Amino acid sequence: MSQPELEQAVKEAARLIIGSRHVVALVGAGLSVESGIPPFRGPGRLWTRYGEPDMLGYDRFLEDPKKWWEERMHPSQAQLELTVALTQAKPNAGHRALRDLEEMGCLKHIITQNIDNLHQEAGSRAITEIHGNLTKLRCLDCGQRWLLAEFPLEELPPRCPHCGGFVKSDGVMFGEPIPRDALDECVTQTRLCDCMLLVGTSAVVYPAAGLPVDVKRGGGKLIEVNPQETALTDLCDVVLRAPAGESLPLLVARVRELASLSRR
Ligand code: APR
Repeated sequence: MSQPELEQAVKEAARLIIGSRHVVALVGAGLSVESGIPPFRGPGRLWTRYGEPDMLGYDRFLEDPKKWWEERMHPSQAQLELTVALTQAKPNAGHRALRDLEEMGCLKHIITQNIDNLHQEAGSRAITEIHGNLTKLRCLDCGQRWLLAEFPLEELPPRCPHCGGFVKSDGVMFGEPIPRDALDECVTQTRLCDCMLLVGTSAVVYPAAGLPVDVKRGGGKLIEVNPQETALTDLCDVVLRAPAGESLPLLVARVRELASLSRR
């Protein structure tokens, strides 16, 4: 997309946001690419290089949690590459732009598929992590969560001190159901939403990819922020065909301008 085309699209997106009551951002791996975290799909990407994990990961955990935890101490090349990138990453201009939109009262909630904790590090507050968070552990029975750094891993598999349930990483594995509290909040936010920003997601993994479709069905608008076309491009009202770290700060500047004009 040429610069003038991008600026025109940013103007349209800013008008949509200013005219909406409840804007929600659905975020994917693309937002963290400019923080050095590789996305999953596409040429040379993580799953393309190492193969997408099968859907039995969670079943294997349930079959033998002790074995799973012991294996976790010896990560595969793909896991190692992802963990190193995740631990070294810092929020980028795209994360900060979403924080700014929230502080301006124009963004009500972030539903993120990312497990990297970068929204929190950027200062965003209203966040639902539909695929969990790498820095946390979770009890499978009562849903309690702890910071990994604060939970003693003396005994494997670790057990919940409250209900005795098995404790695993908070990251949602392939084949694992989305935690109830996160799913409920996604449904609530989607019902309230009249404008959804789709930021850096290929929109192929469900249930996350179904949320924008529900917003559209409910009469809401969709704005795509992605350098590439996605599975939902045809449903979108406005497309910012550029990296999020470049286009989202432009969007914040336009929204701020329009908001100050409407206050006069
Ligand atoms: N800015 C915005 N978008 C970008 C950027 C960027 N700088 N760079 C790449 N993208 C886009 C790609 O074009 C692609 O559409 O980000 C998207 C990343 O897609 P995926 O790798 O499929 O990631 P995501 O949609 O988050 O995957 C969903 O799949 O593997 C699971 O649990 C994992 O949460 C993940 C889920």
